[in-house]
Order: sequence, then C-alpha cells, then structure tokens
Amino acid sequence: MNSNFTPLSASELVEKISKIPKVDLAQLPTPLEFAPNISKELNINLYVKRDDCTGLAFGGNKTRHLEFIMAKTLSDNYDCILTGASSQSNFCRQAVAAANKLNLESYLVLMHGVKGKLMQGNFLLYNILGANVDVVEGEDLEQIPKHLDKKYNQLIENGKKPLLIYGGFGKEDTTLAGISYANAMVEIDLQMKEQNFLADHLFVTAANMTQAGCELGAKILGWPTRIQGVSPVYWEMDIKKDIARICNEGAKMLDINLTFTDDMINHDNNYVGKKYGAATEDGIKAMRLLANKEGIILDPVYTSKGFAALINYIEKGIIKKGEKVIFMFTGGSPAVFAYNEEITNNPSL
Ligand SMILES: Cc1ncc(COP(=O)(O)O)c(C=O)c1O
Repeated sequence: MNSNFTPLSASELVEKISKIPKVDLAQLPTPLEFAPNISKELNINLYVKRDDCTGLAFGGNKTRHLEFIMAKTLSDNYDCILTGASSQSNFCRQAVAAANKLNLESYLVLMHGVKGKLMQGNFLLYNILGANVDVVEGEDLEQIPKHLDKKYNQLIENGKKPLLIYGGFGKEDTTLAGISYANAMVEIDLQMKEQNFLADHLFVTAANMTQAGCELGAKILGWPTRIQGVSPVYWEMDIKKDIARICNEGAKMLDINLTFTDDMINHDNNYVGKKYGAATEDGIKAMRLLANKEGIILDPVYTSKGFAALINYIEKGIIKKGEKVIFMFTGGSPAVFAYNEEITNNPSL
C-alpha cells in the first residue's frame, strides 16, 4: 500500500535498477544547471536538467530509453532494428545511432506527418546515419504499430532478424523506458543534494514513458515535488491511465510495492496547438526567450511547448514566486532546422 511505503535512498534504488540489463550508450550524469538569467526574468529558481547532453547523435531523452530497450541485442541473435514514429522523430535518430554503435542495420517506418520527406533536421540525420527509411502517408501516430508489423513480416520473409521496437506503443519498451527515467531521478536526487535544494515542481514534455519514469523515480525516492507532464500530442487513448500503467509495470519490475492511479498524474494537453508536430506561437516565443537568456536551444515539437506551459503556469499562479522548478530538457534541438519557416516567418514574433 502506498501509505505504508518507505522511500528508498538513491543507492537502494540504483541497486534495484542495476539488476535490469542495460547497454551503455549515454554520457551520464547529464548536468543539472541553475539558470540565473531566466530565473530572474520569471521570478522563480529554474534548474535545467540537460538531457539534451546525453551524447549520442545530438542527444536527448531517448538515449536513456534505448540503453535498456536495446540491451537484448547483446545476447540475442539480431542483425537489425526496426522502429518507427513521425518523419522528424528524435527517437528514431537516437535509435539508428545506437544501432550503428552496436553494429546493427536500421529500418525505419515513418509517418509523413507535418514535415514528410523534407531533407532537414532529423530526416537528414537518418540519411547521414545510413538508415533504410520508408515514409507512409498519414499523421496518426497510433497507426505506427500496424505499419511496423507489416514491415516486420517483410523483413522476416527476406531472412532478416530484426529487433522490433514499438517504443511508446510497446508494453515492455515503455516499462524499460520508464525505468531509465527512474534512473534519471536518482541522478537528480544526488544533484539536488549537492546543490542544496529540493524542487517544488518538475516539468517534463512527455508523450507517456518519460513522465512515467519521472513519477516512478520521484515517488520511490519520496520527493514532495509536483511533477507536471506537458503533452506534445492529442491522444485518442487515455494517456493518464497509460502513464499510471507504465509506473505500475516499472514498480513491479523493480520489485517495489507502489501502486499508481490516473488521478495521481498531472498531464496537460493545452499546449499542443493545432496538432502534433505543428509549432505554436507561444512555444516559439518560449524558445526565443530561453535562447536569449541562457543560450539553450529548445525544440519546436516538444520542449518549446513544455517551456511555454511552464511560463503559463507561473502566470496562472500554479508556480509561485521564488519556487524551485526543474525543467527536464529532453532534447530534440536538431528539429529546429526543419522548422526554419515557422520560426522566422511568423509576423507576430
Ligand atoms: C525531445 C523529446 N521530448 C520528449 C519526448 C517524449 O518522450 P516520451 O515519449 O518518452 O514521453 C520525446 C519523444 O519523442 C522527444 O523527442
């Protein structure tokens, strides 16, 4: 029962996580950086967790996920990976880079979405990294598993042995990705102790897995911090339930007696704008503000929307003057190059 739960120390949680197979891909720990200029501007104490600095092909949160998801390739007889997302996917960029490091070929099935085959940003990087890419029509990310299954059968017929990575749509992948972010919470726990503070809020732009890992780690470590997820997409599925499910699977995998329910999850989809992958005016303003104050470049699809939410939560009084806020910068900056028009041609900016 949660009420009887005794939090674990960082080292106790590390010991549990270390039992789960992992392959080293990321440069860890990433810095937790106090941001003095934007803190002054916003009247809070803002710390940025620099997960854009995980190191693999421009970095990002997905490198942490892949350390656990791709551990299988060390023992089983795979010769390639197959995965998919949108055509400007940060996940796919990091997955192909990880596969290259592990001497595996890569196959990507990408939804056309907003940017399609535009040879810029992440799409250009798949090309440089040498992935085999199929682009399918449509925008609905929830169609990806269907396309992946079709491609998987074709690869098997051609004698390949692919590791099929469903990412956010796979039960095991989401659990492992969640575990990787419980591990990131251990890093932050130690960094907060070193820097002598405890966060009042943690903001993370998340579809599902990264927020689930933050929730899981924070609860296991007994933080009082309010975790706020900001969505980059309008889902058909009940995403709070899905996040709670990932937390529960993660707790089970770590042999920890914690239960999560959807009412424990704060997840806001008011900052998506028109649709997934479309930049927003407030997001681009937030991107410019952080770049101007701190030299940090957010991305147009995820983190700029998360940072716009953070600013709006200050305006609404949910984050109060002087409070300590961690912004989880999950990376994605290579996508800015595919969004040059939205960033520069908007007359109101
Ligand atoms: C930059 C960035 N931030 C956040 C996310 C969301 O992560 P998750 O799907 O684990 O919730 C993604 C996912 O692709 C991403 O690329």
